[in-house]
Amino acid sequence: MIDLEALLSERMQAMEPSGIRRVFELASKMRDPVNFSIGQPDFDVPEPIKQAAIDAIRAGRNGYTITQGIAELRAAVALKLSGEFGWEIGPGLECDVLITNGTSAGLLLAYTALADPGDEIIIPDPYFVSYPQVAAMVGAVVRYCDTYPDFRMTAARLEPLLTDRTKFVVLNSPGNPSGVVLSSDELREIVDLCESRGVLLLSDEIYDEFTYGDGREAGVFPTPARFSNQMLVLRGFSKTWGMTGWRLGYAVGPSRLIREMTKVNQYSFVCAPHMVQHAGVVALRTDMSSYVAAYERKRDMVVEALGGLTEIAHPAGAFYAFPRVPQHLSLTGDAFFRKALERNVLVIPGNIFSQRDTHFRISYAVDDARLARGLEILAALMK
Ligand SMILES: Cc1ncc(COP(=O)(O)O)c(C=O)c1O
Repeated sequence: MIDLEALLSERMQAMEPSGIRRVFELASKMRDPVNFSIGQPDFDVPEPIKQAAIDAIRAGRNGYTITQGIAELRAAVALKLSGEFGWEIGPGLECDVLITNGTSAGLLLAYTALADPGDEIIIPDPYFVSYPQVAAMVGAVVRYCDTYPDFRMTAARLEPLLTDRTKFVVLNSPGNPSGVVLSSDELREIVDLCESRGVLLLSDEIYDEFTYGDGREAGVFPTPARFSNQMLVLRGFSKTWGMTGWRLGYAVGPSRLIREMTKVNQYSFVCAPHMVQHAGVVALRTDMSSYVAAYERKRDMVVEALGGLTEIAHPAGAFYAFPRVPQHLSLTGDAFFRKALERNVLVIPGNIFSQRDTHFRISYAVDDARLARGLEILAALMK
């Protein structure tokens, strides 16, 4: 008889199952809920991208690829980002690309390559659920940068958290769960602070394309990568092209770091799915601006319906809003989540993304009719 309790690693005690999964399980038992809990677009992968994957399968592109990813996709990413950031990216250059199994894999590879047990990392609070849990996997200590009430991780809020053991700072703009987009000035200050303290900046830009008119500057997505190449940028295909189940993303940063992350990838994920990498080349050429414009209108619907009832930090990107539970209700985020559940609306309580429990997350990646119906119910609950 095996005593599994005795066999499980101590690491597992530090990790918690995702609270979002718990909400998904609840949703599967409900009849036709208004589901504002899902962090994925409601559109399907565009046809040319699907066709590229099918063609790749038929052409026999089904085996392993090299660990770093196929040359065509790496070159396409390098071209796109060197245009956007002005970095020199490619084999033998100062910065390089690693194709990852989604941004999630990029996070795990980066944390593994950078943090030893006891090292400190700084993440924003509220945060994407993986940030603290992946830290638990590698034994890193998480310092939370409290960004309430406006959800802006500024240099002034970061600075007091930096210590001799800080290895990296995770930045996420547009942010999950708030949708808040930082300005170039704010980003530049963070870049300067990290560089002056010898700390790496890890910029999770998975929602880069979902940056609306009011989050852009002269029509351009604000990224810290414009100010320095001494950082790691993680991006993905999941959200922009609706490819969540295809598992494709990329990491771009200093070649020395990319080399170490590639080493970890070699013994863990091995490579991103071969046919999906070929589809990724087509995805990078597929314009999604009409989809993003539709999401901007959904964002407006949310702000219009709920903005007058509570505090909502302006969501200029992603497809989330993170309203505060109105104070006159005297309810925690979790209690409000349960009230909404009784009305067949699924949101996510703020405590899943935060050390606090005062807010809730809405994902508005749903069709307009359902969005309008759900917002009406939430507005009634908030009055
Ligand atoms: C901020 C953020 N980063 C990373 C991910 C992971 O995305 P994927 O692994 O599908 O690329 C998500 C998904 O919800 C996210 O919200």
